[in-house]
Amino acid sequence: MIPIEKYFQVSAVDIRRISRDFRAEMEKGLTGRKSSLKMIPTYVRRPTGDEKGVFIALDLGGTNFRILKLVLKGAGRSGEPRTMKFVLKKGLITGSGVKMFDFLAASLKTFLKKNKMSSEDRIRLGFTFSFPVNQTGIASGTLVCWTKGFEASGVVGKDVVILFREALARQGLFNIEVAALANDTVGTLVAKNYEDPHCDIGVIIGTGTNACYPEKVTNIAESKFQIRHCEEARSADEAIQKKEIASGASRPRNDESEMIINIEWGNFNKLRRNVYDRRLDKASDNPGRQILEKMVSGMYLGEVARLVLADIAGGGMRFTGIDRKHVAKSYGFRTEEMSGLAVSKSADPVVKVVLDMVSSRAARIAASCMAAIITRMDPRLTKTHTIAIDGSVYEKYPGFSMKVNKALKELFGKRAARIKTALAKDGSGKGAAIIAAVA
Ligand code: BGC
Repeated sequence: MIPIEKYFQVSAVDIRRISRDFRAEMEKGLTGRKSSLKMIPTYVRRPTGDEKGVFIALDLGGTNFRILKLVLKGAGRSGEPRTMKFVLKKGLITGSGVKMFDFLAASLKTFLKKNKMSSEDRIRLGFTFSFPVNQTGIASGTLVCWTKGFEASGVVGKDVVILFREALARQGLFNIEVAALANDTVGTLVAKNYEDPHCDIGVIIGTGTNACYPEKVTNIAESKFQIRHCEEARSADEAIQKKEIASGASRPRNDESEMIINIEWGNFNKLRRNVYDRRLDKASDNPGRQILEKMVSGMYLGEVARLVLADIAGGGMRFTGIDRKHVAKSYGFRTEEMSGLAVSKSADPVVKVVLDMVSSRAARIAASCMAAIITRMDPRLTKTHTIAIDGSVYEKYPGFSMKVNKALKELFGKRAARIKTALAKDGSGKGAAIIAAVA
């Protein structure tokens, strides 16, 4: 074992500690005390599965964004979504916010034209916006801060739905009704729950990372809502309950009113950091923030590994399979490259060890936090839970999902069989369309 390896170890004791600390931070965040977890009320609850109609979603969570059209057929069924992908160039994510929103609106116009959707018809749209947003209603919320390298000006502190609506108006798209604003984790949870009522956690482990779950409204401090919206939530809740009673809906969910909470777990900071984590944080554009994200998500895993390799290389070592120039340059080593090398037969054994320790730590931290959420909802783990997970790291990094499941088993023993982790590919956009239907 190379000595650095122990910096990255997350032992059986560590996963329990992380899980306990995470739960404590969740509770603090919910009750409005100081916490690294924002625990944002989303004004969204799980769907009934009966939602029907044609909906559009715009899914923005990174430089690639998608627009999709979805037909919901009820009874948990939906048609195959029609999707178009677009790319936000660097200049657009670091330039003026108005220009960025104009590009989103113009892309939507292209999509509608391509799908022959008339500009006369009223269209309901779900807007997935995967950054920390303080939601003030189901279709309103202000951006707290950018993450994942976005820096567009004039957006932080503003209502992103208003900015989007203004851009739609500039494109003449007056028929679009932005009916819902959702985080990607919320979309992922809702999309999976539409077909699997046991799904009660949504997780993203991609460029960024985050999770959400449903919480009893009575457990959320009133100070976290704005009064107007609190009433909005309550009446929406009553309407849903009446509808459910009338339809005799019998899905296995709480009678008490619930609301999905966007945890914003990327900012969790009760983690033991090593010299490489500190170095990365210090050089980042958001020092002191998104501490968990910097240890778990795809935006940073390659850079953590690079810092370790650069340190070892400083001692005169050379690695087969890696371009020296990549190791010398900040963010020169991408997480995708890591994935390839992790299974490459020709990669240097030292490199493989480094990649394994960086990715294993990420998987074990993520699993500890998932365990904390489950324990919060179901302390004795008596029910079945599906965790819907999306994101490039979870989907593509060799062995990542297996490591998550292994850690859950270490934490829950045999009872871990009640937890199903399910890859929920591209659920975030679909979920936003379903939320638009609920709204
Ligand atoms: C954002 C979250 C988002 C996550 C996954 C994080 O950087 O703060 O809102 O859910 O990335 O996309």
